[in-house]
Amino acid sequence: MIHDDLGHSQVFYRKLTRRYPRIVRGEGCWLYDADGKGYLDGVGGAFVANLGHGVREIGAALARQADRVAYVNGTAFTNDPVEELAVEIARRSPGDLELVYPLASGSEAVEAALKLARQYWVETGEPARRKLIALSPGYHGNTLLALSASAREHYKTFFHDWLVDVVRVPAPYAYRCECRGAPPLCPSCSGEAVEAAILREGPETVAAVIAEPVGGSSSGASVPAPEYWRRVRAACDRHRVLLVADEVLTGAGRTGSWSALEPYGIVPDIMTLGKGIAGGYVPLSAVVAPRRLAEPLVRGSGALLHAQTFSHHAVLCAAGVATLRYLREHALIERCAAVAPAFHARLEALRDLPGVGDVRGRGLLAGIEFVADPATRTPFPRSARFAETFAEAALEAGLVVWPNVGQADGINGDLAMLAPPFVVSHEEIDLIVQRFGEALRATVERIGAVA
Ligand SMILES: Cc1ncc(COP(=O)(O)O)c(C=O)c1O
Repeated sequence: MIHDDLGHSQVFYRKLTRRYPRIVRGEGCWLYDADGKGYLDGVGGAFVANLGHGVREIGAALARQADRVAYVNGTAFTNDPVEELAVEIARRSPGDLELVYPLASGSEAVEAALKLARQYWVETGEPARRKLIALSPGYHGNTLLALSASAREHYKTFFHDWLVDVVRVPAPYAYRCECRGAPPLCPSCSGEAVEAAILREGPETVAAVIAEPVGGSSSGASVPAPEYWRRVRAACDRHRVLLVADEVLTGAGRTGSWSALEPYGIVPDIMTLGKGIAGGYVPLSAVVAPRRLAEPLVRGSGALLHAQTFSHHAVLCAAGVATLRYLREHALIERCAAVAPAFHARLEALRDLPGVGDVRGRGLLAGIEFVADPATRTPFPRSARFAETFAEAALEAGLVVWPNVGQADGINGDLAMLAPPFVVSHEEIDLIVQRFGEALRATVERIGAVA
């Protein structure tokens, strides 16, 4: 469906060269377009629809709040939903993380989290701590500071002049690493590389390390070794660097626990949440921080200097509260963890298909990496547009996936992500695998370049 004109609509679409199916209804794991075609939503839109589509309770909760009062200025008033949302998030969050600053998008939460880190150091008398360390590949959003922290080259192409320097450390990305994620682990996979970067830069100049606890779409759900986060946490403690866990994608249960860091048994200094905390019913994100980081601001400037009109929004927070209660009442995070082994066992079958190099992930999050030659892990040339072609073929087969590119070397590399709603049934998992296979065979046929 490639088109080279803008003539058919007034919408400035995300992609200007394709015609979009128009979705008119969603229910559970399914989306239906205006022609009645059903799509199995294998990735919850964009790792968002954790509850599934069409849950009436959430719509009703936000309508009730809009009827009562939709918006109040967050510098003048508080409101019931924001107070309740903070309680709901704080009670699930690890350690001393308990202050909740709600925003709308993940990018905004990352911007605010990094500003909090910087403001904290300035207000505690260490203004030299301005450097940020981030992993590569990695993704933290598309506004300019969040994009600076991201290692996603193709998003930066036109904007390099506007981005700030961020220190980059190779991510623990076993499939593309020399150690292959097996002991003895290389510095990137063990976490040692993060401490080396702190030391190289000078600890007294480093404000924060920001990272995704389990890889998102940039490294295709790569899961670090058990010691990785303990080691990074210890390095941050040793050098008094703040650890920011970007759980925009992995938080709210996606990997089978509220936060993806939980199984590692460590607590970050700041956590960002987004996507799943309102299940897609509204845009909602949050910065979660301990009182110890906010207290210096109380004694100093008096506020986190990240003023946005729609932070602490009553209707958005009401949708978040309803979503988090629904997750709890229906034990959906527990369900995500319980279904995950079957999900990954079924996905193993994909390894036998042409073009598949690796299948990995945790909880209901999986990445399938495509390669031209599985023996050498050689990626397809970017010109083949394998991931994009696959995503279109999947849509034709009635399956929604999330493609990503560039993870092999910044330019080449293709993968598809799966992250179905937590209500996905075993039959739907089978159908995901079946349609994935159909789409893959169609892609290989179209591209014709597999070893
Ligand atoms: C880990 C992570 N952080 C931040 C973001 C940015 O979130 P948003 O697209 O809502 O701005 C994303 C989005 O994919 C993400 O995966």
